[in-house]
Amino acid sequence: MTTIIDGKQVAASVIDAVKAATVQLEKEAGVKPGLAVVIVGDDPASHAYVSSKSRMAKECGFNSIQHTLPEATTQEELARLVETLNEDESIHGILVQLPLPGHLKSEPIIQSIRPEKDVDGLHVVNAGKVATGDLDGGLVSCTPAGAMVFVRRTHGDDLSGLNAVVIGRSNLFGKPMSALLLAANATVTTAHSRTKDLPAVCRNADILVAAVGRPEMVKADWVKPGATVIDVGINRISAEGRSRLVGDVAFEECAKVAGVITPVPGGVGPMTIAMLMANTVIAAYRKAG
Ligand code: GUN
Repeated sequence: MTTIIDGKQVAASVIDAVKAATVQLEKEAGVKPGLAVVIVGDDPASHAYVSSKSRMAKECGFNSIQHTLPEATTQEELARLVETLNEDESIHGILVQLPLPGHLKSEPIIQSIRPEKDVDGLHVVNAGKVATGDLDGGLVSCTPAGAMVFVRRTHGDDLSGLNAVVIGRSNLFGKPMSALLLAANATVTTAHSRTKDLPAVCRNADILVAAVGRPEMVKADWVKPGATVIDVGINRISAEGRSRLVGDVAFEECAKVAGVITPVPGGVGPMTIAMLMANTVIAAYRKAG
């Protein structure tokens, strides 16, 4: 029997804990967690993600601020906004939605966010803490943190003896995901577009994590029987005149082989937002001392 993980349900339990912590922080220290989300330009998918983040922040009882900047925003204007948010005592978390429009450089912007407000976990200080296995001192990138919740629920905290394969090596996901699995004692392979015989590498995985952005790339014969399959892809495809979201994993066929699998939508997606809220409340607690 394959277990299909209900990401919405797991995310809801994280959100309940965040709400309780928010009430507690306000009662104890008179502090309300503040999250500022910044979006530049008109990309509809990014606008949809950002609206969900702002809405969830309000629902958690946060001070939720959204800055919507026009496509023509300059590097300097964006840098000035981040600086203002860095200085703002009521803001504990800053998220600049990626990708930025082509004329803007994202890296200097991300690196200008104060590490203690970098609720995306993308600043080199936070990425470095994850890479060195210091998981308590910094802020962990939200999507890998969410995927790890599923891994821990399935396998426990200690992954000793288990082979994990992460397909994808981005700074946003693949690298921190591999580091988190390694910190939990898994034997980790980070695979990517230049990997030789990817299906054979994947068949070795007790935990297979796909984050490549290619619709339904992972097929049933890539999956070791009984493996845990975590699908981080969100791809919009059109077939027979209808548009729908699919992951990087061919869900129907892989679900017949896997032991545990996440669906798209309703798997990792809701967890990303929940972990963003968790990071914001953590940042607010740390600031309140
Ligand atoms: N774009 C897609 N996913 C993310 C994310 O987790 N953080 C940011 N800042 N932008 C994204």
